[in-house]
Amino acid sequence: PYLVPNRNQSICYPSKHSSNTGYFPTRKPTSSMAEIDVAVQLLLKLKTDYKHLTGQDYKAGCPPPENVVNQDNGAATDGIDEEDNVDPWNVSTSNAKGVDYDKLIVRFGSSKIETELVDRIEKVTGQKPHRFLRRGIFFSHRDMHQVLDAYEKNKSFYLYTGRGPSSEAMHVGHLIPFIFTKWLQDVFDIPLVIQLTDDEKYLWKDLAIEECHRFAVENAKDIIACGFDVNKTFIFSDFDYMGSSPEFYRNVVKIQKHVTYNQVKGIFGFTDSDCIGKISFPAIQAAPSFSNSFPQIFGGRKDVQCLIPCAIDQDPYFRMTRDVAPRIGYPKPALLHSSFFPALQGAQTKMSASDANSSIFLTDTPKQIKNKINKHAFSGGKDTIEEHRKFGGNPDVDVSFMYLTFFLDDDEQLEKIKQDYSSGALLTGELKKILIETLQPMIAQHQERRKQVTEETVKQFMTPRPLNFKL
Ligand code: TRP
Repeated sequence: PYLVPNRNQSICYPSKHSSNTGYFPTRKPTSSMAEIDVAVQLLLKLKTDYKHLTGQDYKAGCPPPENVVNQDNGAATDGIDEEDNVDPWNVSTSNAKGVDYDKLIVRFGSSKIETELVDRIEKVTGQKPHRFLRRGIFFSHRDMHQVLDAYEKNKSFYLYTGRGPSSEAMHVGHLIPFIFTKWLQDVFDIPLVIQLTDDEKYLWKDLAIEECHRFAVENAKDIIACGFDVNKTFIFSDFDYMGSSPEFYRNVVKIQKHVTYNQVKGIFGFTDSDCIGKISFPAIQAAPSFSNSFPQIFGGRKDVQCLIPCAIDQDPYFRMTRDVAPRIGYPKPALLHSSFFPALQGAQTKMSASDANSSIFLTDTPKQIKNKINKHAFSGGKDTIEEHRKFGGNPDVDVSFMYLTFFLDDDEQLEKIKQDYSSGALLTGELKKILIETLQPMIAQHQERRKQVTEETVKQFMTPRPLNFKL
């Protein structure tokens, strides 16, 4: 299996059909130059892949050891379930319950967040674990135990997360990593950097640089409204900070020097027709994982441990980062991965910021919230009240119930809703009403806090400066 290219890489085998189209003379038994070229390229690729996976030069007749694909930086390609597809730009599944996260853990080679880890976080922080941990919404991690080991020995760490500002409109799903990061910042009392990749959105979308930068600043207001501590948080636009920080740019180039085109092709599926900006972008998302990218915060220290809370689709960037880190003398960032927030229409897709009905937006009015949920939230209920009372609903595919698991903090209340919905005692309309009444005040409060965020506040958060913490 180690030599099987993953599905992002297509290898061109010589066409079988060219000889009998009628337009070409019948193929001669010898191969054409083009075919030989393709075969040579293929062989070369197999050899470099071999070296990448095993760290050793390819020797004919010496297959690599069995477990070689399961190394941290290489995702296993065996047993992939074709129903789920997750990379930084696409998330899709054909399963109504959503992506199978246990399979994703195996495929990405990360570790599951077990009850034991949640208990440990509770013990170390002395705080009740956030509902995202209690309910497995953050479900996977890399090296979190090491972070806690060090923290217990008074060695602190910093947080890094980010957002690609592709539009002004943010929906509730976009808040998940930020709500959780804010909680982590509070319970561990540590500094945080937030990257707004306006450059990434410029490269990937049909947008002007000015637009992307403006979205970054607008999105920063919604992020600030999550309640981050200005004395412990640095938010930056790549366009602004990259150009002003020699230390950041040096790290970007160091990373670029240690990742080959072949590697990013394998991780991200780039093709020959992708612009070179895209191909080098992963280095820019990797750089904030290293503390000396922020001399104003860490005073040039390069050994401060980084922890990255993010959605699982961002993992490829950080698999790459963790692969390079030891080779350029930096600690590997640790990770906490969240599952995806389902679209109102069902868990088969991630939401789209361009479809107003696919989620609840942070700018929605109470009336819009009510109408969207009543009209569009996919229901696991039965078609008629009689059937529903008799057979009960299915909370596992019901989007209103899923949204409540994200936003209703009371465990007992949530459990009761689940029981009642499953038994048929609670009707779909009643379940939707509970969700509406949970989201309306939550969004209203967010809008109130966002109104308080002035241009001056944004400027404070986005100015490189020392932060207040002790390591
Ligand atoms: N690429 C991410 C996006 O499109 C933005 C991002 C940059 C990010 N750095 C990050 C997300 C670190 C999570 C953690 O949303």
